[in-house]
This record gives sequence, C-alpha cells and structure tokens, in this order.
Amino acid sequence: MINSAPTSPRPDADWWRTAAIYQVYIRSFADGDGDGTGDIAGLRSRLQYLAYLGVDAIWINPWYPSPLADGGYDVSDYRDIHPAYGTLDEAKQLISEAHELGLRVILDIVPNHTSDQHAWFQKALAAGPGSPERDRFVFRDGKGEDGSQPPNDWHAAFGGPTWTRTPDGQWYLHLFAPEQPDLNWDNPEVRAEFESILRFWFDLGVDGFRIDVAHGMVKDPALPDLGLTEFSVLTGEDQQDHPHWDREGLHDIFRSWRAIADSYPDPRVFVAEAHVRPSRMPEYLRPDQLHTAFNFDFLKCPLDAGKLREVIDRSITGLAAVGAPATWVLSNHDETRHVTRYGRADTGVQALFRDRTIPTDRALGTRRARAAALLMFALPGSAYVYQGEELGLYEVEDIPEELLQDPIWERTGHTVRGRDGCRVPLPWTGDTPPFGFSTSGAPPWLPQPEDWKEYTAEANQADPTSMLQLYRTALRLRRTHPGLTGEVFRWLDSPEGTLLFERGEGLLCAVNLSARPVPLPAGHSPLLVSGPLDKDGLLPPDTAALLYRD
Ligand code: GLC
Repeated sequence: MINSAPTSPRPDADWWRTAAIYQVYIRSFADGDGDGTGDIAGLRSRLQYLAYLGVDAIWINPWYPSPLADGGYDVSDYRDIHPAYGTLDEAKQLISEAHELGLRVILDIVPNHTSDQHAWFQKALAAGPGSPERDRFVFRDGKGEDGSQPPNDWHAAFGGPTWTRTPDGQWYLHLFAPEQPDLNWDNPEVRAEFESILRFWFDLGVDGFRIDVAHGMVKDPALPDLGLTEFSVLTGEDQQDHPHWDREGLHDIFRSWRAIADSYPDPRVFVAEAHVRPSRMPEYLRPDQLHTAFNFDFLKCPLDAGKLREVIDRSITGLAAVGAPATWVLSNHDETRHVTRYGRADTGVQALFRDRTIPTDRALGTRRARAAALLMFALPGSAYVYQGEELGLYEVEDIPEELLQDPIWERTGHTVRGRDGCRVPLPWTGDTPPFGFSTSGAPPWLPQPEDWKEYTAEANQADPTSMLQLYRTALRLRRTHPGLTGEVFRWLDSPEGTLLFERGEGLLCAVNLSARPVPLPAGHSPLLVSGPLDKDGLLPPDTAALLYRD
C-alpha cells in the first residue's frame, strides 16, 4: 500500500537517547493469518508503514505463550511465541526485516509475575508447602487459627485481594490477577532464569526490553500490612518505604541486567515501567542501571501550561543529574487514548480501577492531541507513539459488555470496564470493518466502530492535513532538523497559559493552551503548525507551532 524509501538506520550506540519508539500492541496491530487476532505475519506486512511513519524502533507488547488472562502479561513460557501470534522463526524474520528497514526491536519482559500456567508455578502447586519450588514464588500460611485469613491486607491492582488460597491451605501473592503469581526475587534461581531469558532474546538480535512493573519486583520479606482502608493504587508515588513498590533491592537486579546488556557489541537498552515518585526516578537511571523510563508524569499531566512546564522541567533536570535523557509519552495500552482524555473537562488521567467513561468533545480532543504531539516531538529526549494515535484514534467506550476482555471488568464485579477501549484493532483500509485489519475479513477480537473508515491509514495517508501527516512531518523534522537533534532546551517568556521554548539553532516551539489567540514570537515564521493560524496570523487556543528565525 505504501511505497517509501527505507529510513536509514542510526548506527550510533546512543540511538535510544533521542529515539521515537512505536508501541505495537501485537494482538491489535495487523492480522496476517486471518483469525481476527493480530500476529507477527501482520506486523511484518506493515513494517513498511512504520518506516514510512519515520520511527526509529518498535516496542512489542508481550508476544509469548500465555493464557491471555491479562492480555499476555501472564507469561507461561518466556522463550517462545504465542501460537496465535506465530513462531520463533517468524520472530527471527521480523527482527531481521525490521533491522533492514532501520527499525530497532524492543520486547516486553514481565519479571514481577508469571502465568499460573507457567511450569514453575504448576510445579510449586504440586510440590507443597516449604518446597524449593514454592520458594520461587511468594507462598505463605494464612492468618487466624485455621489459616483462613490472607497473610496480609494488600489489595491487588485490578481489584480484590492480593492473595489466593491453594487447595492445601497456603496462600500465594499476586499484585495483579490471581492468574499472575508474583515471583520471589530473593530466590537466586529467579534471578538466574531472567538473566538467561534476557540473553536468549539479545542473542536473537533484540535491541532492548521494556520492563513491566519494574518498581514492584522486590518485596519486604516481612510482608507487613499496609493498613489501607480504601482500594490500593497501582503506584508507589505517594508512599515512602512501601513494602512492595520502589524497594532498594531492585537496584542490584538492574545493575546485573545492565552488565548483560553492555556485554553485547551493539549495546542493548532498557526502558522501565516504574511508577515511582519523580524524585526517585534517577535512582533507576544511574549509568550502571537502566537507560530510560516511561514518563508517566507527562502522560498524566493535564493540558495546563503551568503544570506541563513543571513536569517538563522536573523530567529534564532530574534525569540530567544522572546523565539520562527524558522520555515523553501521551498514550499506551493501559490508558484512555489522549484524543478522548483531552476532550474532557479534566484532561488528566483517571485511575485504573475507576470508571473512566466521562463525556468528551472529540473535535476539541483531537485539536489538543495534535498540539500535544507537536510539543512532545519538539522536546529533547526520546518519545513513544502508541499504535493508532498517529491515525487520531479515540477510545472506544461502547464495546458491548459481553465482549470485554480486560480482567478489570471481572475483578471489579462489572463496575469498571477497564482498558479494552484503547486496544481495539487498527483500521488500515476500506470503508467497513475490519478495515483491512484481517486479511480474511474475519471479525477482529474487539469490534471496531463504523466511523473508523475515516481513520484508516489509507484515509489518513490521502489527506495532507491528517494526524498521520502531522506525525510524519514532525518525526522527520525531529530526526533531521539540526535544531531538534541535539539536547539544547531553554524556556522563553510567553503569555499566560502558553509555553514557549527554544531548541538548537534558534528553533522555537510555542503551545497555546490559553483561551485566547496569541501572537507568534517576533522575528519567527512557522515551520510546522498543529492547526491553522487564525486570520490575523495569531496562534489559536489548543494549537502548537514549530518556528524558525527569519
Ligand atoms: C503493566 C502493564 C499492564 C499489565 C500490568 C500487569 O502495568 O502495562 O498492561 O496489566 O503491568 O502485568
């Protein structure tokens, strides 16, 4: 469908400091074998599209064998591919084809927990209390005379208790769903196993890993009560010395992982999913630990100039102290798509376990999403694009209840719909579902809205003013414009409710989040705007511009 010259690879070892990384939620990206589920064949067939978009790397959500109790974040074999997604051979082909197109490949490693179907957990259940097999997980006796009370009062991130009782009376810990038993990272076998898994994939040419729940792997062995009366939150942002988030012991693990990554001639990289207080983040990103971490502070920030400025400052300066680049992200597979978020009265994110269906003005959200994307691409560091945001996709909030797949729906007793609305399969071509997602025309695993005919890659490509064209142009400038490739960043004075900063070579970025149009900075002309200037040449509300000196 798309003809374009391959993008040139970036040979340098520091590519990750400025990379634009595209998140592939493989189940929903493209279906090559016609069963309604995305797969490696589909991804391979669309690699040209990603090269055309102009990203440097892809991050693929878990693609391992899994019962899919949590969309693949319940891994039953870390060294193979889920049969619905393809084979290890296809994975190898994908890696080499991506590399030929100049795209690096980052996988998702899930070290906090396995699937309850993982061989280790099955053996642990069979081996019984006190066995070495159980010591790889967190098994404990219950409280109360007959042990019928859970060992402590922790809450699971998806709702409900964080302990499940086994038939022999012991309990096992799961910070997420019961199908996701937590590993015991104090056990040397667990450490050795994950080091071997990293090597397995690095040896196949994989360029890095996103680390799932990187802030949760180590627990206080005393497993003390938290004393919570309300539902627990996913993050450790507000608590100090939390018994299962952000513990000191994590850093030893990450130091050993970094040594493995650095032992390869073309160094491999890590990006942490670590929900920790911003002041703690540099601890993870010291030169002998992880390379980068997602900036959830930025993702969660409401579209408010003052708040954004604070987050941007904190991100850049906090990490500069340890030599790490900032990262930027607006959406992912866990959050309401930002077109929908930004069309609401409150443009911040809603907590995972709350109902997030809130009225939204989609046209406004889209305008703001365009401005936010231009802002993100103008900032120094690396940036993430979640599949479909480049098409302008919105959150699908009316998936029929009987089709919902996210465990949150069940775990909250059908009160919270969960994250399926941002995971709906991508529309590629044509006027009717499945919009080219599936080669056979089979219905996709989650239904697509009829009006996604206006959002297909094909429709976006044909429209010079589309979201896709804005992303492409911004990504190309980010990669090639001398003002954007370096790390220069300086705030300039600007009217209330707006942001204005300078990058290299006098290149400016202006973002108007106020209610009034504002003049462009004197002596500068627009290089790229997220929306049209008004008739007087002013920058309208909810619009951003990249500007160069006249
Ligand atoms: C991370 C993933 C999320 C998953 C959870 C448990 O937060 O992004 O999708 O449900 O970890 O593995």
